Amino acid sequence: MPFKFIHITDTHLANPGLKLYGLDPRARLDAAIADINKHQSDAAFAVVTGDLTHWGEPESYANFADAMAALKIPYIAMVGNHDKRVACLDGLKAAPRDSNGFVQGTRITEHGLFVFLDTLDETSHAGEMCAKRLGWLASTLAAAPADMPFVVFMHHPPFPVGVHAMDEISLKQSPEFAEVIAPYRSRIRHLFFGHVHRPIFGSYGKIPFSTLRGTNHQVWFELDAAAAEHLASHEPPAYGVVLIDGENLVVHSHDFLDESLRFPFEPPAGVDGRGYALNIPAR
Ligand SMILES: [Fe+2]
Ligand SMILES: [Fe+2]
Repeated sequence: MPFKFIHITDTHLANPGLKLYGLDPRARLDAAIADINKHQSDAAFAVVTGDLTHWGEPESYANFADAMAALKIPYIAMVGNHDKRVACLDGLKAAPRDSNGFVQGTRITEHGLFVFLDTLDETSHAGEMCAKRLGWLASTLAAAPADMPFVVFMHHPPFPVGVHAMDEISLKQSPEFAEVIAPYRSRIRHLFFGHVHRPIFGSYGKIPFSTLRGTNHQVWFELDAAAAEHLASHEPPAYGVVLIDGENLVVHSHDFLDESLRFPFEPPAGVDGRGYALNIPAR
């Protein structure tokens, strides 16, 4: 059996009872957790790649912690641009903390060292990796055994993804980040990030990457910087299921609220395949 973990991103929890963009972020997160508990409880852990809360208030972290307490597997909580570092660290034991007080840490797994980065700049929605955070990353990667692979997690993408409004608030220190990871590129099996609220996958240099829809609202697909207004959307939410073995790393994006019809490919016994019409109840 491959090693399995869960990727959740951009939960954007508000204080209890508050809706966000017409949706209930707590109910959405509860639904994701219930689905994970029911179908993915053999996963080793979950990683939540930031924007845990929308306004960074202590009550919102308490709301997040209360929801996540129902999750049957451990989790790691990371910060995004909507978060507040002190409130996050005070409210969540699942948030790692480095020696400089940033929300950064690592976890050893049977498939290498998982590295969790803090790209929060509390004065901007763009991402930041200051000299201290980059220094921590450099020393963390350097300290690992030479044959150990890495899996890296961060909230902001360190390169443009083409969704113009989000590219304007990606990681500001892309060149510096690229320089720090340069000696280790061949050992980074995958880069996971959040922030963009869209399913996007590809490669960053030769490093495979993926990101997901958030569990509340989404960002509308728009590549045209000249024509386009920056729009959010109610496209369906998702979480990711990641399977790793010695050769492959596979990411599934699961629309956990989807209620569309499921049916066997083959018609029931005795029914002519050419006459196999699904009896779809009217909604
Ligand atoms: Fe977000
Ligand atoms: Fe974000």
